Amino acid sequence: MIRYIEQLAGKFEAADLFYGHGTDNAFDEAIYLVYGVLDIDYAEDPETVNRNLSSIEIDSLETKAKLRIEQRTPVAYLLNQAWFAGYKFYSDERALIPRSPIAELILNKFQPLLDYEPGRILDLCCGGGCIGIACAKQFVMAKVEIVDIDDSALALARENIELHACHSNVSAIKSDLFENLFGSYDLIVCNPPYVSKEEFEGLPQEFKAEPSLGLLSEEEGLEIPSKVLRQAGQFLTADGLLIMEVGLSADLLVERYRRVPFLWLEFAEGGQGVLALNKKHLERYSGEFN
Ligand SMILES: C[S@@+](CC[C@H](N)C(=O)[O-])C[C@H]1O[C@@H](n2cnc3c(N)ncnc32)[C@H](O)[C@@H]1O
Repeated sequence: MIRYIEQLAGKFEAADLFYGHGTDNAFDEAIYLVYGVLDIDYAEDPETVNRNLSSIEIDSLETKAKLRIEQRTPVAYLLNQAWFAGYKFYSDERALIPRSPIAELILNKFQPLLDYEPGRILDLCCGGGCIGIACAKQFVMAKVEIVDIDDSALALARENIELHACHSNVSAIKSDLFENLFGSYDLIVCNPPYVSKEEFEGLPQEFKAEPSLGLLSEEEGLEIPSKVLRQAGQFLTADGLLIMEVGLSADLLVERYRRVPFLWLEFAEGGQGVLALNKKHLERYSGEFN
């Protein structure tokens, strides 16, 4: 098995694949695929679980490796599984592959930004539901609403609610941003589409396997993040907090809203372009977002 992993990593390297949907190098990508197909726990050392592969296993691996190399299909879609904040999620072409650095914030229970246990949490633009469901695992007393405009993404999110048996505290809602939402939340977490057309066209082929609705946003990427900034304040409790990822659109956002004191978060595990703003700031600067 180790030899197979090494050979596969060599093939991935030679094919000049793009990594960034769960791993960042050819060897880890090969492990991701082989362990996934063989159902081996990712915590296991390759030396410990090394064994001969059967011809059926090799056939299955070869089919998937071919799709990875020739079609550039991300491994998460080949395995129908992705990992986020240490939890396994169903993943397929209905929603983006979970990879937000927000996972680190969730695992740290949003400390030191949040100094109380949130009672009501919103995962806006939820895709397959990874952010909201991971929040529900961390804040077991909280009611979590996970929201998307897309029926297919919501169907996947509902399957993930089922997988994690969290129907009692997580509900999936179809809504165009805040349109069908009521009341106020202690915490709004949002990873919206924020990629401009220009950036989208230059993305590696791996991203083209994902639904463009999850990536593209008009106004050079800022249309949807700006709408969220405009409305989020009205949907937060007095001490409520908005956390939003805007990735590489951060510079443009800062340029457009020069007066707004965005707090840009830092990540030990890597990642950037995630902002925090509280209700007071969102309300004080609401005029800016018009
Ligand atoms: C970047 S993906 C995020 C998925 C998931 N939260 C994650 O972090 O992996 C953005 C999601 O926003 C959804 N979306 C796009 N426009 C929306 C809108 N106007 N209202 C609600 N959801 C929207 C897309 O369908 C997509 O699932």
